[in-house]
Amino acid sequence: MIHVDNNIFTLHTRRTTYQCKADGHGVLLHTYYGARVSGGDLSYRIRHADRGFSPNPGEVGRCRTYSLDTLPQEYSTCGVGDYRIPAIAAENADGSQLVDLRFQGYEVRQGKYALEGLPAFFAGGGEAETLVVTLQDSTTRLTVELYYGVFEGYDLICRAARIINRGTQPVRLLRAASLCLDFPQDNLDFITFDGRHTMEREFCRTPLRPGVQSIGSVRGTSSHQHNPFVMLCSPSADEDHGLCFGAALLYSGGFEAAVESSQFREARLVMGVAPHHFCWTLGPGEAFTTPEAALVCSPDGFASMTHCWHRAVRRCLCRDPYEGRRRPVLVNNWEATYFDFNAEKLVGIAREAAALGIELLVMDDGWFGSRDSDFGGLGDWSVNRSKLPGGLEALVPQIQGLGLGFGLWVEPEMVSEDSALYRAHPDWALGAPGRPQTRGRSQLVLDFTRREVRDAVYSAICEVLRSADICYMKWDMNRSLSDVWSAAIPAQRQGEVYHRYVLGLYEMLERFRREFPGLLIEGCSGGGGRFDLGMLYYTPQIWCSDNTDAVDRLRIQYGTSFCYPSCTVGAHVSASPNEQTRRAAPLETRGIVAMGGTFGFELDLGRVDEQEKAVMAKQTADYKKYYRLIAEGDYYRLSSPFGDEGYTAWAHVSPDRTEALVSLVTGPTRAALPFLCLRLRGLDAGKRYRVSGGGSYAGDVLMHAGYPVPPLAGDYQAVQLYLAAE
Ligand code: GLA
Repeated sequence: MIHVDNNIFTLHTRRTTYQCKADGHGVLLHTYYGARVSGGDLSYRIRHADRGFSPNPGEVGRCRTYSLDTLPQEYSTCGVGDYRIPAIAAENADGSQLVDLRFQGYEVRQGKYALEGLPAFFAGGGEAETLVVTLQDSTTRLTVELYYGVFEGYDLICRAARIINRGTQPVRLLRAASLCLDFPQDNLDFITFDGRHTMEREFCRTPLRPGVQSIGSVRGTSSHQHNPFVMLCSPSADEDHGLCFGAALLYSGGFEAAVESSQFREARLVMGVAPHHFCWTLGPGEAFTTPEAALVCSPDGFASMTHCWHRAVRRCLCRDPYEGRRRPVLVNNWEATYFDFNAEKLVGIAREAAALGIELLVMDDGWFGSRDSDFGGLGDWSVNRSKLPGGLEALVPQIQGLGLGFGLWVEPEMVSEDSALYRAHPDWALGAPGRPQTRGRSQLVLDFTRREVRDAVYSAICEVLRSADICYMKWDMNRSLSDVWSAAIPAQRQGEVYHRYVLGLYEMLERFRREFPGLLIEGCSGGGGRFDLGMLYYTPQIWCSDNTDAVDRLRIQYGTSFCYPSCTVGAHVSASPNEQTRRAAPLETRGIVAMGGTFGFELDLGRVDEQEKAVMAKQTADYKKYYRLIAEGDYYRLSSPFGDEGYTAWAHVSPDRTEALVSLVTGPTRAALPFLCLRLRGLDAGKRYRVSGGGSYAGDVLMHAGYPVPPLAGDYQAVQLYLAAE
C-alpha cells in the first residue's frame, strides 16, 4: 500500500514499511526501511548537527547543520556535498561533474511499472502499486524519475530510475545506479555469494568495516565470481531471527553492489550497472532507464526473506511456458559423450532414458557446423550431417517415438574463427581495430549491440527450431567479454557497448519467447556464470553450475537458495566418480541433491547397471511425485555445508504445512560419529506428522526436540524423509 501525505511517501507491505520524504529543500530523504510500523513522519530519526568538513548547500545561508554529507538519501548525487557513494554521476556540457537533484513531483499508479527492453517483476491485477517520484537538477534540467513497485503480499519493493535530459545540451552519464539505500547505522553484516567457474555462489558473511566494500563484475556478464544478490543483516541474524535485507539486481551484465560504512557509522548500499566501462551520452530529450533492483526486508531472519524471494520469483518474474504444469525430467548427453556422438548414440541414450521415466532428451554442444571440439563451429547453426545424417527431421521423430521430447543446445552470442559465419563477417565479433582479439575458450563474442548480427543469428536458429518439434533450448554463453568495441558505434559512445550488448541479448531472448511460446529455455553460462534475476525473466531455469559433483553442489545450491527457488536451479545426476572432481558419491546422494533443483540426468545411461537403473527409475518417480512440494514449497535450510555439523540438510514444506520433504547429506565419515537429531523448521506446531523413515511425531517436537536420523555409515550418505500431516 502506498500512502502519501505532505510529500512523505510510505510504502507498506505485509510485514515491512519503507519511507522517504521530500524535505523543505526538496532533498528526497530516506527515513525508514524495516519491520512494518504504523507510519507518520519518520524523519524525526534524522539528527542535524554542525559536522566539520560537511558543507552546506547555498540556499541554507548561515545554517551549518544541514548538509547532504550527513543526510540519508534516496538517490545520492555527486559533487555537491555528499562524499559517500553516488547513485548518479554525470559530466555536464561545461565539463563539470555535478548533479544536484531536488523534488519536482510524484505520481501513484495502480499496478506495477514495466521497463521497456529490460526484465522486471510484473503483477497480475491489483497485486502491486507504483510510485514515481521526480527529481531534477535545476541548472542542467537533468531529471530523474525514481520508480517504486510495491508488492504488498510478497514484502517486495522494486526500484528503477529513468534519467531524462530535459536540458538543451548533451550530458554524459557516468554512473546510474538502480538502487541507493541508506541505513541509520552500520552495525550490519554484509553477505555475498562469491566463487568461480565450477564453484559459484559460496556464502560469505563479513561485518561492515569503515569505508567501501564492494562486489561486482566487469566481465560483461553477472559472473561466476559474484552474484548480483546481496544481503545486509544484523550481526545476530540467523535463519529464524533478526532483521535482514536482501537486494537483487535484475541484470545479466557487469554490475556493482557497494556498501559504504561512513564516518558517522551509517551505511549506504548502492547497486547498479558497473560504472567501470560505462559512459552513456544523453542528448536533449533522451532518456536512460536503469535495470530494476528489488528489495526484500525480513524482520525475522533469513528463512522468511527467502520465502518472499522464492514466491515472488516464481509468480511475478519467471515466465514459464509450462505455467504450473510439471516441467519434464531430462537427460543431457554432455557428460555422457561430449562432442563425440551421432544419431545412433543419442537414440541409444533416449531408449535407456525412456525406460527410466525420463521425458526429454537434450542434445548438447556439437550437433552443428564443423563442431568436433571447442575450437570451431560456433556461429554455424545448421545441423552437422555427418553426425546426424537425416538431420533433425529424422532424429526428432525417432526420439519422440520412444516417448521423449527433444531439446538442443545453442550458444548464440558466440563465434569461432573457424566458422563460415566468421569468414563471412569478421567484423561482427567485438574487437577494436588494429588490435589482436583476446580469445576465451578459443572463441570470440558477437557484437550483440548490432541488429543485423542478432537478426542473422536469430533466423539461423529459428530455422533449426522450425525444422522439427523442439520443446527445449539450452542457451549457453561460455566466456567473459573482452575487446569491447563495436564497429557500429561512434568513438565517443563506446562506453555504451557493454550495456547495449545486454539489451541486445534481452531483445533476442524476448523474440524467441514470443515466436516460440511453448519453448522452455534453460539459461547457462559455463553453468552459473549468468545466474541472475534478469535471465530468469526470460529463462525460467538456469544450469546452476558446470560442477555436477553432488558434494560441491551442496555448497553451490545452499548459496543459490537464498534468493533463487529450486524450480530455477538446473541440477542433474551425473556419473561417479564425478567428471569435475573425480570424487565418488553414492547414487542415492546424487539423486537427492539433484532433487534440490530441476532434476535430470547427465551421464551415459548405456554404462549404468541394472541395479543403478532401478534406483534411477525410483528417483525419477519420486521427483515426479514430490514435484509440487519441491517446485512450490517453502524452502528451509536446516544446516549449512559451511558449518561444522558434518551434514547439510534442507526441507521443502508445502505452503499449508501438511507435507514436507526433508533431505540430508552427510560429510566425509569418521569413526564413532555422534548421533544426529535433526531439528526441522516450518512445520505446523499443532499437527502430527507421519515420517516416511518411521514414526509419527508432533510438529513442535520435530522442530524443537528433533528427528533421530538413523546412523549413516560411509562418506556422503543421504536420506530423504517425506512427512505427511495425519
Ligand atoms: C558449457 C555448459 C555445459 C556444456 C558445455 C558445452 O560449459 O555449461 O553444460 O553445455 O558448455 O560446450
